[in-house]
Amino acid sequence: MPVISASHEFEVSDLFVNLQPFFGHRLFLKVEGFNFAGSIKLKAAREMVAQAEAAGVLGPGSTLVESSSGNMGVALSVLAASRGYKFICVTDSRCNEVTRRTMESYGAEVHLITEPHETEGFLGARIRHVKALLAADAKRVWLNQYLSPGNWMSHYRTTAPAIARQFPDLNVLFIGAGTTGTLMGCARYFRERRPSVRVIPVDSVGSVTFGAPPATRHIPGLGTSVRPALLDESLVESAIHVEETDTVRTCRELMRSGFLFGGSTGTAVSGALRWLNEHYGDGAGGVRERVTAVTISPDLGERYMDTVYHDEWVRGSVGPEGLLPGVEHRGLGTGVAAGLQTVSG
Ligand SMILES: Cc1ncc(COP(=O)(O)O)c(C=O)c1O
Repeated sequence: MPVISASHEFEVSDLFVNLQPFFGHRLFLKVEGFNFAGSIKLKAAREMVAQAEAAGVLGPGSTLVESSSGNMGVALSVLAASRGYKFICVTDSRCNEVTRRTMESYGAEVHLITEPHETEGFLGARIRHVKALLAADAKRVWLNQYLSPGNWMSHYRTTAPAIARQFPDLNVLFIGAGTTGTLMGCARYFRERRPSVRVIPVDSVGSVTFGAPPATRHIPGLGTSVRPALLDESLVESAIHVEETDTVRTCRELMRSGFLFGGSTGTAVSGALRWLNEHYGDGAGGVRERVTAVTISPDLGERYMDTVYHDEWVRGSVGPEGLLPGVEHRGLGTGVAAGLQTVSG
């Protein structure tokens, strides 16, 4: 067992769930939720902080400032606590309460934006607030997950090599797209080292990342309302777009098999299965046995008890098609369900 002295040092890099017994295809799920921030975002946060420290931008007395809808905020709260920085997270009223309270418990100051910008939505309003905070105090440092090369580099250095090591026969890699840090890090790695691997982005319906029209989205993590600056579409294939009802149903199917994952895991698995069914659905000539596919689970499911795993929320927000017959999901009933999120990061 590893022995650590700082919470961000702990990482589970080699855990994969074989989904073939449940869905038929040789699809493996890389699990990223087992760390002290509870999500894949800890990797990006760690790399961005390390780069800023090495560049002398961040040091004793600095205050980190970041715009986040949830997981990046928690990851930076963990790092700030363990590295001795102050942290101000700028989020908005759609950030769920559990996430907000978690950040505050780590010692972060949470600024809640309640009015969207007239043309650039909540994200635009949050960025403006970040800029005002920076202008008011020179000790404040914005790492900017939407632009920082550390975001994609963390996955180029860790996530992609871990997948490559475990699956020398990998054919297809499905990656959910939020800021596109995970997608770009993996795409660059496989383009350089194993260009035969097909890298396919998975996005949610209503996200503008790959040029589709905007629409309301409720499940956080994947999708954007402003095209991500990190994205280089020339390195990836056409994106798959997944409806939120399919996201929720897939999450619940996984849960029935004993795996409680976050919303974006349902999106990634649902998109991957649709693509595999379209291409190899009939399994002719034993093709299902020969095609190896991997996708990523960015976080676990507890934070989604009042949304994805809450029947009333699903009926009201996503639609009744998201429900599976048989099991009732009643959530925590704390009213957290009202805190919808529609932006990534
Ligand atoms: C739950 C969840 N899934 C997926 C993602 C997307 O990751 P990336 O920002 O690297 O595209 C995020 C990032 O915010 C996330 O929090």
